[in-house]
Parts: sequence; C-alpha cells; structure tokens
Amino acid sequence: MKQILIISILLSAISAFAAKPNLAREFFTERCNSCHGAVSTDLDSPVLYGQKKEYIVKQLQDFQSGERNDHIMLGEMNEIAKTLTDKEVDLVSTYLSNLSPCDYPPKDSGFAGDVKAGERISQSCKKCHHAWIPGLEVPTLYGQKPNYIYKTLNAFKLNKRKNSDEMGHQVKTISETDVRNVSAFYGVNMRCTIDDF
Ligand code: HEC
Ligand code: HEC
Repeated sequence: MKQILIISILLSAISAFAAKPNLAREFFTERCNSCHGAVSTDLDSPVLYGQKKEYIVKQLQDFQSGERNDHIMLGEMNEIAKTLTDKEVDLVSTYLSNLSPCDYPPKDSGFAGDVKAGERISQSCKKCHHAWIPGLEVPTLYGQKPNYIYKTLNAFKLNKRKNSDEMGHQVKTISETDVRNVSAFYGVNMRCTIDDF
C-alpha cells in the first residue's frame, strides 16, 4: 500500500513537471495573449517573448503594488497583475523568458524615426541594456514595439512611470527627437539568443 502511494506520488510529480511548459503556454494564451501575443500589434502593449525573467517578475510585482501604473490602458494591467499568484508569476515569466523573440517577429507598425540617429543615441544605453547579465532586472529592448518604447520613455521623462530612478535619470536629458529615434532603432533590430548580445 505504502509502495503504491509512493509510486503514485512520484508519478504525479513527474507528470506535473512534464505538463509545465504546456500549462504555462495555455495560461499565457488564455490570460495574456490577446494583448501580448504576436498578432496584437495594434495595441501598444509590450512584446514579452524572450524578455528577461527577473525583469518580468519585477514589473508584475510593481504593477501589483502600484509602484508602476499602467498608463496605456489606464490601470487595467495593474488589475490583471493583482489576480496573479506568486506561482503564476513564476510560471509565466519562466515560460516567456525561454522563448526566442525571433520566432515571433514584429510586424511593421509604420513608426517614423531615424534609425541611424537612434543607433548613435543607443551608445549611451549600451552599458545597461546591451549586456546580458543573468539576474539583473534590466530589460532587453531589441525587437520591442517602437510605439511602446516611445510611450514608456516619455512616461519616464514626465515622471508618470516612477518604478526605476536608475532609468528615470537616463531620459530626463534626452530630447523628444532622440526618444523617437532610439525607439525606432530598437524596434527594427532583433537579437535572437543570448549569444547575439
Ligand atoms: C488587455 C490587454 C492586456 C492583457 C490581457 C495583459 N496585458 Fe500585460 N500589459 C498590457 C499593456 C498595455 C502594458 C503596458 C502598460 C504601460 O506601460 O502603461 C502591459 C505591460 C505588461 C508588462 C510589463 C512589460 C515591460 O516591458 O515593461 C508585463 C510583464 C505584462 N504586461 C505581463 C502580462 C501578463 C503575464 C499577462 C497575463 C496574465 C498580461 N500582461 C495580460 C496589456 C495587457
Ligand atoms: C544605468 C543603467 C541604464 C542606462 C544607461 C539606461 N537604462 Fe533603460 N533601464 C534601466 C533599468 C534598470 C530599467 C528597468 C526599470 C524598471 O525596473 O522598470 C530600464 C528600463 C528601460 C525601458 C523600459 C522597457 C520596458 O520594456 O518597459 C526602456 C524603454 C529603456 N530602459 C530605454 C533606455 C534607453 C533608450 C537608454 C539610453 C538612452 C537607456 N534605457 C539607458 C537601466 C538603464
């Protein structure tokens, strides 16, 4: 009897583990995909494929605590984050961080900006955003929707997004045109794997 119990516990542990990627995919498809999926280009919601796990976790916690306010949908992302348990946060962020953004190339949104000029600005962003340092809560920007980058940088600039003093300082001194151009630069450049950084 005891043996059967142990075997069945073991089996259920194994099947729970095996089911995890599917579980995470289903969870994402059901709860997040309508806005964060590859097809949702119209809404200025950020691309999450291949984003760093630590960064996703921090943002979800910041939305939960109100440290970060969703200014694109006027608070809806805060409400969504509040429904998530710690386990769900871990599940969905692990799943997303293991995907390659290159499997979900963004569609051309027609965002206007000078990519070459943006590349020059990006030199000052390099030291934090171009290095892939595991464990650091700095997001990757490559392949992000330019409309979203533009909006969130302006939110930092106007102090509407206040969840990082470190990043807040960076945009205070750059002009509106530079913000536009650097958004265009990151929007058209993809990095598929950690080795590409
Ligand atoms: C109704 C649309 C919608 C749904 C559904 C939605 N989100 Fe969001 N999400 C947004 C928008 C819009 C933003 C940007 C908010 C802002 O910056 O003002 C966002 C921001 C985020 C961010 C921050 C990303 C970054 O680059 O800073 C994370 C992480 C996130 N969402 C995760 C999720 C997860 C996980 C789910 C599913 C449980 C989900 N979202 C469901 C629209 C949505
Ligand atoms: C000193 C380090 C540092 C530098 C330099 C820096 N950043 Fe950041 N940046 C951060 C950190 C840390 C975050 C994460 C903030 C948070 O926790 O929400 C961030 C977040 C961002 C985000 C939000 C991404 C998202 O998915 O919501 C954008 C966009 C961004 N940075 C653009 C830039 C640009 C453009 C430059 C150069 C002009 C730059 N950063 C320079 C540290 C830096």
